[in-house]
Amino acid sequence: MSHFEVIGGALHAENVPLARIAEQVDTPVYVYSTEAFRDAARAFRKGLEPVGRHHVAFAVKANPNLAVLRLLANEGFGADGVSGGELSRALAAGIPAHDVVFSGVGKTRKELHQALDAGIGQFNLELEEEGVVLAEIARSKGMTAPAALRVNPDVDAGTHEKISTGKAENKFGLPIDQAPAIFDRLAKLEGIDLRGVAVHIGSQLLSLDPLEAAFERVGRLVAELRAAGHRITHVDLGGGLGVAYKPGDVPPTSAAFGEMVARVTRDWDVELMFEPGRHISANAGVLLTEVLWVKPGVTNPWVVVDAAMNDLARVALYDAWHGFASVTPSGETMVANVAGPVCESSDVFLKNREIDRVKSGDLAVLQSAGAYGATMASTYNSRALVPEVLVSGDRFEVVAGRITAETIMGAEQIPDWLEQ
Ligand code: LLP
Repeated sequence: MSHFEVIGGALHAENVPLARIAEQVDTPVYVYSTEAFRDAARAFRKGLEPVGRHHVAFAVKANPNLAVLRLLANEGFGADGVSGGELSRALAAGIPAHDVVFSGVGKTRKELHQALDAGIGQFNLELEEEGVVLAEIARSKGMTAPAALRVNPDVDAGTHEKISTGKAENKFGLPIDQAPAIFDRLAKLEGIDLRGVAVHIGSQLLSLDPLEAAFERVGRLVAELRAAGHRITHVDLGGGLGVAYKPGDVPPTSAAFGEMVARVTRDWDVELMFEPGRHISANAGVLLTEVLWVKPGVTNPWVVVDAAMNDLARVALYDAWHGFASVTPSGETMVANVAGPVCESSDVFLKNREIDRVKSGDLAVLQSAGAYGATMASTYNSRALVPEVLVSGDRFEVVAGRITAETIMGAEQIPDWLEQ
């Protein structure tokens, strides 16, 4: 069920009217539902029941807010981080270091040190040299780093080009056919315990087929590595499960995913790891905004809202589709474009779409904004960094405050030589 419902004519997050949040926190603001996160987290874990030993690590990049990470930690989720900052957040949220995976195509040496010192649970290596360097650093500390080799299975995820990662031409992972030789060389090094492989082919997948094809390739690799005498105890199957953004989107359910994984991995005898991000968080959040103006257009009116591409970049970056709804829907509709105030033609959330009729001063939401929303926000046009609110039942709390241009200016300096 959705936790964003119209109750008594007004849109609520759980039992809190969105108008109350707008009044107290101002707009634009991300609003998350605790119950929506919990439902998705629990459904995912339940879906994995038929799967053997496994560990779920939330992809921090999807929604790194500390309160969100804590909420998911309470649901038994670890974390998948791709930078020193994400690792710090996972640990600050109370996720034990051994439940944290360190992925990422360009880990710095400083980050490798940081992760080793923290006792991070697994390093997903993207290239041979990274393994050599990690082993060296670990040895210098008298440690052994648990590691997996991320392979690129050359599978087309069938998703937007900019969020595909599993084709040979993408920058991610190392070619699966080179993996056995690289594994041989790295497994010999002291300082790393190369114990498995990892794969992630892309995001917002609406079909299980490419995932299944990738997992089957990984299964063949595991058998080949074992035949060569390697001990394989862990396989990380990444994230990627899509969600419904628009009417007609039918994403795979957690149950269908779990059933497929159980079938494909039946004989693997490893601990499986998963890194879902969007599937857990996208539908747990909306971006609440106020309609500033309804400006006549050549064909359709422009609904200019106070949220913009700097707050929610997904439309400008990936032509993503986000639902738009009035907070006080009258039942009447209009065909319109919705845009933000940023001075870019790409600051348009939707075009020529039938939407709830709105007028200036009305509140509205951009839906399914809980994943890759606030985390990708910027302060372009010297706009404030958008705040975040978490609702639970009839209470809510600001879990990330608005950072204004004034605060950001505080970190800037005018050098002496420019003084007049
Ligand atoms: N694991 C790895 C190694 C990843 O690169 C990603 C996402 C995930 C897990 C989580 O994927 P998910 O379950 O959320 O699909 N900003 C884009 C999405 C970028 C995804 C990057 N990697 C968007 O807004 O659509």
